Amino acid sequence: MPYKILEKKQIAPQVHLMKVLAPDVAKAAKAGQFIILRIDETSERIPLTIADFDAEEGYVTIIFQEMGKTTKQLAKMNEADELQNLVGPLGTPADVRKLGTVILVGGGVGIAPVYPQVKAYREAGNKVISIIGARSKDLLILEDEMEAASDEFHVATDDGSKGHHGFVTDVVKEILDSGEDVTRIVVIGPPILMKVAAGMTEPYGVETIVSLNPIMIDGTGMCGGCRVSVGGETKFACVDGPEFDAHKVDFNLLMSRLALYRNEESECLENHEC
Ligand code: FES
Repeated sequence: MPYKILEKKQIAPQVHLMKVLAPDVAKAAKAGQFIILRIDETSERIPLTIADFDAEEGYVTIIFQEMGKTTKQLAKMNEADELQNLVGPLGTPADVRKLGTVILVGGGVGIAPVYPQVKAYREAGNKVISIIGARSKDLLILEDEMEAASDEFHVATDDGSKGHHGFVTDVVKEILDSGEDVTRIVVIGPPILMKVAAGMTEPYGVETIVSLNPIMIDGTGMCGGCRVSVGGETKFACVDGPEFDAHKVDFNLLMSRLALYRNEESECLENHEC
């Protein structure tokens, strides 16, 4: 069954938002889960976290950055075009419940999967402090939506073009140092950001959750492509995660596995042959 694109817009340089009609997925989706889509019969399967969903209207929102051949191809699609497959919701939903004060951090395109969590944690009765960051202000996404959904909202940019001049982790540290009683911190973004955040929060003893983005193929626990090491045990991010205790994740292994096919990916992008 093809999945119709209801809306498509560019929200930052090389970053696009797409609303796709997928009533069954929208009905079952929960914050923290993801989908796998295929543009056509020959294209690769790409996992994307659900950035929003509307069960009544029957659509899911995905946000993606043009990185490789398939995401560039996806970026060329428009409203009324159809995707061959969209499978989901996949993965274990985020463990959202009333905890007290929760800090939610989104870096770069990682802001997209944080957004449904901000709404869910707030709906569960938590005080939600959101921090979003990017290299510069042009790359910030969902700023208004995140601000509206949070009790407290902060922005950080590497170049100082908006908000705190520096990293999102500096803002987290300031909040922890201010004596705010924080029960949980959720960080989603590039692996290096999640690694740095995990190292920073550990001495404070605050539970820290990250959402991992390893290479995924089937998304159902069959292929082993998404294996990660957590607390010395092998886990499959697609079924055991994608969320894990940040203080137990082997980020170096995650980053080296993500780099495994970099040469093939750039070759593929140059030749458009795969
Ligand atoms: Fe295949 Fe997770 S993607 S086991």
